[in-house]
Amino acid sequence: MSKKVLIAYASRFGSTEEISIKYKQVLEEKGFIVDLINLKSRSTNPKKLNVNDYSGLLIGSGIRVSRWTKEAKSFLKAYTKQINSGKILVGVYLSSGEASDPEKRPEAVEKYLLNVFNEFNIDLGDHLLYDAFGGIYDLSKDTNLNWLNKRMLTMAANYPEPDSNPAFGIGLNQRKDLRDWDQINNFIEIFISKFQ
Ligand SMILES: Cc1cc2nc3c(=O)[nH]c(=O)nc-3n(C[C@H](O)[C@H](O)[C@H](O)COP(=O)(O)O)c2cc1C
Repeated sequence: MSKKVLIAYASRFGSTEEISIKYKQVLEEKGFIVDLINLKSRSTNPKKLNVNDYSGLLIGSGIRVSRWTKEAKSFLKAYTKQINSGKILVGVYLSSGEASDPEKRPEAVEKYLLNVFNEFNIDLGDHLLYDAFGGIYDLSKDTNLNWLNKRMLTMAANYPEPDSNPAFGIGLNQRKDLRDWDQINNFIEIFISKFQ
């Protein structure tokens, strides 16, 4: 199997982007040829990619108000046929606040991955890996959230449901990175092992 991998991601606040960049680095260290595509970049025309040139495809999205980025969703829709062909090893990953808690993760997987696969008629099988990773909540002075997202996050931080609300208690000027890098690294290790 050729070792050419396409990583196509869309991130709103940077978490999925950081994971995707890390995946490129890990794959290149293992001898893969990697194209990393930011689906939010204006210079990208995702509809013109020749996905069949790759033997591996990684698709990443962040979650906001229970939604994927529209760019990653369009990508999934545009390439459903190639994803279902079984000829490409596909890995789909998300950065989601709700997946930060290992106990809540299965719920996030169901809601944000299995439901979306169902919506786009994506077949489950050995060629498809998927996982939901935690996310970043950033109310620090260096945050890249715009005023609306900052306001929504501040409201969530004060919403009195600590058990069901991963943003609960995040203070003003605080940044919480709730990602589990062992989980994130494990996903790419499994992806790589499937090439052998
Ligand atoms: C305004 C706002 C709304 C959010 N809504 C959700 C949500 O509905 N579900 C969830 O799991 N995480 C939610 N999050 C957490 C994000 O998933 C987390 O910030 C993640 O890092 C986003 O990925 P990205 O940085 O790649 O965009 C929200 C975050 C913000 C700031």
